[in-house]
Amino acid sequence: MVAPSPFAADLLSDTLTRPTEAMRQAMARAEVGDDVFGEDPTLRALEERVAGMLGHEAALFTPSGSMANQLGVRLHVRPGEELIGDSLAHVVRAELGAAAVLSGISSRTWLSERGRFRADDAASLMVTGVGPYQVCTSLVIVENTHNFGGGTVQSLDEIRRAREVTRDRGVAMHLDGARLFNAHVASGVPVDDYGREFDTVSICLSKGLGAPVGSVLVGSADAMAESRIWRKRFGGGMRQAGILAAAGLYALDHNVERLADDHARARRAAEAMAEAAPGCVDLATVETNIVIVDVASMGWTSAAFVDAALADGVRTYAVGPGAVRLVWHLDVDDAGTDVAVDVLTRLLRSAPAA
Ligand SMILES: Cc1ncc(COP(=O)(O)O)c(C=O)c1O
Repeated sequence: MVAPSPFAADLLSDTLTRPTEAMRQAMARAEVGDDVFGEDPTLRALEERVAGMLGHEAALFTPSGSMANQLGVRLHVRPGEELIGDSLAHVVRAELGAAAVLSGISSRTWLSERGRFRADDAASLMVTGVGPYQVCTSLVIVENTHNFGGGTVQSLDEIRRAREVTRDRGVAMHLDGARLFNAHVASGVPVDDYGREFDTVSICLSKGLGAPVGSVLVGSADAMAESRIWRKRFGGGMRQAGILAAAGLYALDHNVERLADDHARARRAAEAMAEAAPGCVDLATVETNIVIVDVASMGWTSAAFVDAALADGVRTYAVGPGAVRLVWHLDVDDAGTDVAVDVLTRLLRSAPAA
């Protein structure tokens, strides 16, 4: 059973989605085997499908997006070498130092505007061919869409320009595509057009796509064979995981195109807030399912705003002292969006309690 949400609109994160009855039925019907022995047919089917969708040879199912990213990172960067990415990237900011702790990798970052990827930023930070004198850059990380940047869709042209530079300099590229399908739906760029520009790509099934658990890493057959070993070493070898893969297959069949609904609801709410409180949302920044609201421009701290919205049944997330993030997903429909718009516009218009 899907328990009713205690919130009128839960905009905390798109990781909150709960599997629908239909998805649960698909999970219950899944044919399974022991995946550590490579014998789970549903998992094999999911891996083959995702590899094909992203234009790669092979794939590996992982329990989380963080594990998929960390397996990708470890493939390309040896201990003592570095990865580079923007300072808001999930890999450097929100995986709790995993690259350093698990793989002995250091990270350097450039500043970006809302996580927007620019080939020049990567090229100017990259250090190669410096022998034993400096840390060598082995990997560039790109995140698409960009979570902490506010759902920013990356430009394929910029990615291609970076690919030319990295190819020349022997540096690998990994795409954190936790929300790659949001980027695809918003931009119309086929997912494999993004996918083919990278050595490895991770995608998440458990965010906007609505599966309860699971991510997939794609790359060459050799790279995935090596990642399979490291996944087991990291404790991520799973047994009858076809139950989870069935949810992923269901999500790919039913929940990709509907991401456009989340984007439309996010935009509708953003427009209402921008009209109610001019300056609090820059509409040009609302590209997908994430809206960042500058509540400080209306005299609020993010903590006070989050509490006030919660008291009226709308859960949001403070992403800085004066900014609040709202994320649309499968479990927030038009009615939930109406409530969110009512509550949030009223709060933005009113002065916070002293
Ligand atoms: C961009 C991005 N990458 C990776 C992850 C990690 O996913 P997980 O929570 O499954 O480890 C997240 C999670 O929110 C994310 O937003």
